[in-house]
Amino acid sequence: MNAKSPKESMIEMNELVLPNDTNLLGNLLGGTLLHWVDIVGAMAAQKHANSVVATVCMDSVDFREPVHMGEIVTLKARVTWVGRTSMEVIVEVFAEDYLKGRKRFTNKAYVTYVSVDENGKPREVPGLILETEEQKREFAEAEKRRAERLSRRQSRQD
Ligand SMILES: CC(C)(COP(=O)(O)OP(=O)(O)OC[C@H]1O[C@@H](n2cnc3c(N)ncnc32)[C@H](O)[C@@H]1OP(=O)(O)O)[C@@H](O)C(=O)NCCC(=O)NCCS
Repeated sequence: MNAKSPKESMIEMNELVLPNDTNLLGNLLGGTLLHWVDIVGAMAAQKHANSVVATVCMDSVDFREPVHMGEIVTLKARVTWVGRTSMEVIVEVFAEDYLKGRKRFTNKAYVTYVSVDENGKPREVPGLILETEEQKREFAEAEKRRAERLSRRQSRQD
């Protein structure tokens, strides 16, 4: 299995916020955004692993400011860390008011996926080639986040 760089599996997805995606104030529903985050992250993970993936953990997402109906949402997903069978993907979310020509960063989420075989069992994933200092830093930070996730998982099982 050949190792790959993050840019080989990067995914960018655009969505138009339609009335059905919004609450009574015309702002994007949190659940819809989480759905898009999961989908775009899974595409990046699947591209890295060349397999189907299952979501095992989504870190907390802060909804810092509303995204309005009619805006374009751009979601950028990139693999930041890989283990034996699992991968962490960062998803960055931007909202664009194209009438005013204004694009802003709105959210960031880390999602962990496990590569699974045809029986739904974990399978190994290719390694990650870290090409830049930023990618090395992200990888080191991801190791800390993983330790926290596994410790939370352990405490739920106790
Ligand atoms: C994905 C699944 C097959 C993994 O099975 P499992 O018995 O948990 O497998 P393991 O314990 O060997 O864990 C597999 C990998 O996931 C990691 N992992 C498991 N739970 C994790 C969590 N909560 N956070 C981060 N990593 C986690 C493990 O550390 C391991 O990583 P590694 O191989 O890179 O070291 C199983 O958990 C599953 O089917 N989950 C449901 C997935 C799903 O339905 N998702 C949709 C959301 S509802």
